Amino acid sequence: MFSKTLRWAWTEVDLGRLAFNMQLVKKKAGDCRVIAVVKADAYGHGAVPVSKVLLKTGADILAAGTLQEAVALREAGFACPILILGLTPDDCCDILMAYELTPVTASYENACAIARAAEAAGRQKDVFVAVDTGMGRIGVPPDEIGAAETARIHALPHLRLQGIFSHFATADEPDKAYARKQTARFDAFCERLRRAGVDPGMRTQANSAALLALPDALCDAVRPGIILYGCHPAGAKAEDFPLRPVMSVKAKITYLKRVPRGTPISYGRTFTTQRESLIATLALGYADGLPRFLTGKGRVIVRGAYAPIVGAICMDQCMIDVTDVPGVSPGDEVILMGAQGDKRISAEEIGEKTGTVSYEILCGFGQRLPKVYIEG
Ligand SMILES: Cc1ncc(COP(=O)(O)O)c(C=O)c1O
Repeated sequence: MFSKTLRWAWTEVDLGRLAFNMQLVKKKAGDCRVIAVVKADAYGHGAVPVSKVLLKTGADILAAGTLQEAVALREAGFACPILILGLTPDDCCDILMAYELTPVTASYENACAIARAAEAAGRQKDVFVAVDTGMGRIGVPPDEIGAAETARIHALPHLRLQGIFSHFATADEPDKAYARKQTARFDAFCERLRRAGVDPGMRTQANSAALLALPDALCDAVRPGIILYGCHPAGAKAEDFPLRPVMSVKAKITYLKRVPRGTPISYGRTFTTQRESLIATLALGYADGLPRFLTGKGRVIVRGAYAPIVGAICMDQCMIDVTDVPGVSPGDEVILMGAQGDKRISAEEIGEKTGTVSYEILCGFGQRLPKVYIEG
C-alpha cells in the first residue's frame, strides 16, 4: 500500500458498491432518465473512475457543478451529455460550444450570451432554464414573470430549450410539506409555459431525497448524488433502500508509545491521559478531511474494536487511544470511516458529530488523501 500511495493514509473507493447503488437508483427511477451528479470530483470519490462506472450502469447524463468540472470530464474522454448545474459566466459561453456542454441558465441576459456564442460557432445550443420554486439559489421566479422570461429565452435564435430545472431545499426533512409546495409550483410553472406555447421539455427537479420520498417529483429525469455514494439522506430508512457506502478512509499506525498517567496529547493539551496509556499516531489530519471538530468526539476502528481519537486533530496527524485494544502494533490498519466486522463509522456519523452533512465529510476526505480503487 505504501509504495502505491506514498502515504500511510488513504481512501478506498469501492466501485462495485457504486454500481450496486446505481442499480437501486435505476430501479427507483423507473422510466425517468438518470442525471448522475458527479460534481466536486464525484463528492470526493474521483469523477473519472466514478463516471465510467455510472455510465456503464445506466446513467444517461453526467452533471458537473461548474464549467471547469464539465471541461475536465469532456477532456477525460466522456462523450455523453454533460450538464452544468451552476451558472456559466457570460464571458465563458464560447467554452460551452467548444466542449459541447449543456448549461443551466437563469436569466435572459445569460441566455443571450449563450445564444451569441452559439451563433459565433454556427450551431445551436441546448439549455435548461432553472426555475426557483423555493430553494432561493438560482432560477427565474415560478410565476408569470418567470414564464415570460423563459418564453423569451425559448424564442432566442440558436438556443433550444431542452428542459426545465429546479432544486429542492428540504426534501430530506421529515416534513415534506414545503417540498410538496415546491413540486406544485414546478408543475404549475411548466403548465404556464405550455399555455404560452413553450414545451418545457425534460423536466427535472428530484435530488436523492426526493427520488426516495416524493414519487410525484420524479418527472422526466432525476438527479441523484449522495445516494450513489451510499449515504442516506436524513430520514431515509436503510432497510427500505439498502445503500452501500462507497468510500472508506483508512490509515496505518505510524507510531506507538506507552505513556504514564498525566501525559498531555497534542496542541493545547486539551487531553491528558488519566491512566498509563497506549497512544498511537496516524498520519492524517484535518488537511485530509478529518474535521478538527472531531477532537474529543471522534473514534476509529482498530483490530475490530472502537478506539477514541484523543487530543486536538493536527493538520497531518492525529492520535488515538488504543490502551483497551489488545495486540496493537505499528503498521496496523485503522479505519476512520468504513466498517470492520460489526463495527461501522459512517460519513453521516462524522457529519452529525461535527455539525455538518455527510456530503461535506466525503468531499473533505476526497481532497488530499490518495485514492485506492477496489471492486468489492
Ligand atoms: C442542482 C443539484 N441537483 C442535484 C443534486 C444532488 O443532490 P443529492 O446529492 O442530495 O442527491 C445537487 C447537489 O447538491 C444539486 O446541487
